[in-house]
Amino acid sequence: MGVRADVDTRAIMDLAVKLARQSRMPEDSEIYVPSSSVHRVLFGIDADIGMILAAKSLGYDLVIAHHPLGGKASLGILKVFEKHGTNLARAGVPRPAAAKAVRAMQAEHAPRVHATNYDHVPSLARLLGMPLMSIHNPCDEIGRKVMDETLRGSVRSSTSVKGALATLNRLPEFAKAETDIVLRMGKPSNSMGRWVVLHRAGTNGGYPIASCAFRNGIDTVVYIHVDPAHVRRLQDEFGDRGVKNLIVTGHVASDSIGINPLVRALRERGLEVTCVSGIVEP
Ligand SMILES: [Fe+2]
Ligand SMILES: [Fe+2]
Repeated sequence: MGVRADVDTRAIMDLAVKLARQSRMPEDSEIYVPSSSVHRVLFGIDADIGMILAAKSLGYDLVIAHHPLGGKASLGILKVFEKHGTNLARAGVPRPAAAKAVRAMQAEHAPRVHATNYDHVPSLARLLGMPLMSIHNPCDEIGRKVMDETLRGSVRSSTSVKGALATLNRLPEFAKAETDIVLRMGKPSNSMGRWVVLHRAGTNGGYPIASCAFRNGIDTVVYIHVDPAHVRRLQDEFGDRGVKNLIVTGHVASDSIGINPLVRALRERGLEVTCVSGIVEP
């Protein structure tokens, strides 16, 4: 048993932002119910009222969810979609085309975001007096970097898709996950060509972002998840077994890649962290 350490929720958020090498808390992250003294943390990819009640009855000081649970974080997620534009531009897509794709994505999601009951979970956490926060984009940025650097380490444009999948599968979270990395478009024998990991931008870019990438010279898109209707649209336009590749790495496994470095950093600072709700621990 190490020395008991307590930190406040602001310090935990600052640590996540620092690990992601960001300069400020992104719009899709929030401290809903702060605490000045955290020692025992229940950390999940998702959280709900049941998890908050479980945390309370089991003596945890704080619930951290990866996904936004309401509040400004849920409403602010449209702004975070702009990071898809940065990802595309970094991969060589002209900025006006990238910005247009982001606007299409924002227009598609805006009505749903607008309709969100943004205070449901936070209001009950306040009522129960259970400290609660969501750390979304910082963890996604950590995860994107890990996946990008892993691929960059051994994948050339001539590397086959099959070879790139083998490289990704060496990451312990993918090796241990119940889901496989899947190829929704293209062929294992295709070359990766120009590729990009399109992650850490609120949610998957769906049809607008992937189609923009494919139309602007990208051969392989790596998503962590994608909706079926968007896959069908992409397949209709670019072919399901054609030259464009869509690799989908799996949601909870990929989110875990960005969460685990933060969990390790919290434990190094003496906090007790229990991982639930889908976090794949290596
Ligand atoms: Fe995520
Ligand atoms: Fe996620």
